[in-house]
Amino acid sequence: MKGLVLAGGSGTRLRPFTHSQPKHLLPVGGKAIIDYGIEALAAAGIREMGVVVGVETDRPLREHLADGSRFGLHLHYIFQPEPRGLAHAVLCAEEFLAEEPFFLFLGDNLLQDPLGDMVREYLREGKGAVIALKDVPNPSDYGVAELDASGKVVRLLEKPARPPSSLAVVGAYVFGPEIVDACREVRTSPRGELEITDAIQVLIDGGRPVLPHRLRGWWKDAGNPEHLLEANQCVLDDLQGESRGKAMDCELTGEVLIGEGARLERCTVQGPVVVGEGARAEHSRLGPYVSLGANSCVLSCAVWKSILMEEAQVEGLGDLSHSILGRRAKASAKVPQGKLSLLLGDDSQVCLD
Ligand code: DAU
Repeated sequence: MKGLVLAGGSGTRLRPFTHSQPKHLLPVGGKAIIDYGIEALAAAGIREMGVVVGVETDRPLREHLADGSRFGLHLHYIFQPEPRGLAHAVLCAEEFLAEEPFFLFLGDNLLQDPLGDMVREYLREGKGAVIALKDVPNPSDYGVAELDASGKVVRLLEKPARPPSSLAVVGAYVFGPEIVDACREVRTSPRGELEITDAIQVLIDGGRPVLPHRLRGWWKDAGNPEHLLEANQCVLDDLQGESRGKAMDCELTGEVLIGEGARLERCTVQGPVVVGEGARAEHSRLGPYVSLGANSCVLSCAVWKSILMEEAQVEGLGDLSHSILGRRAKASAKVPQGKLSLLLGDDSQVCLD
């Protein structure tokens, strides 16, 4: 079975971070979001994978993922000239898919469950589709599935104002080749896209089996900064601590991963916390739920529930939480501050005096 990961689009809801990099490359738990999806597909046995990229994501994703060999698979890049919807992205990949069944994964989704069960469920039936569903409190933000009394999927609606159920359509689907023709039948939706939910509805209306697969574990789609912090928290809950760097005069509790060349001095660290390669923290309190990017620096701060990307620096911030600092962003204070929450894009600077 092939894999198809969608990583086009523009990620406007994650600005300012997506002004300078695709949302798929934003880090959670010390790793790019898209890496988790690709690793999960590789773990489900997929070896040939297409990545749909758009104008903004093409170059950075090729640089980051390269030929896929570090994931143990072979990657092909498929260019989508405009983000005209998920069904349009599938149509762009038609040649790569070559009438084989495939696992479609949305590159901004993160989920805890392994993907192998969905592959096996599809292979047992051998046609139609398997779609992942999750009970959520805010179904109107997603595609929503309606099931009949026997548990069969009867209707799918994209971001309905009045959702018929609380079952959101997760960005993980297994399709037979007939989905490509279904995508061709879809008309542009009110939000101006060719929706994959509408293409699946074509399968249902044509009597094809569309099997629901309920997720047991957590699911996040990295739609906005709040989701990114939630995803960071979920991923860190599964963290296994390890030290490849140095911790001097520190008190460490819980799972703490210290990357190669990283140095902690006179710090209290309450895991789960990831300290990226070459990062430095001195005289600070870190955690819980902190991801420090490579070569970032924390001096005389208390930081919790936050993401600092590569080379970000913070100094003298008494209580920083629910914050995301982009690459090379700097925030400092000369006098002690109260509680602070910052969203700083790449290369931004804030000086509080
Ligand atoms: O996250 C789950 C939801 O994803 C589902 O519940 C919805 O049914 C589904 O339509 C989708 O909704 P979103 O509005 O959240 O999709 P988004 O625009 O964020 O795109 C999802 C991924 O697909 C993302 O990695 C970008 C990529 N993409 C998106 C579009 C519109 C493409 O590669 N090409 C596109 O044209």
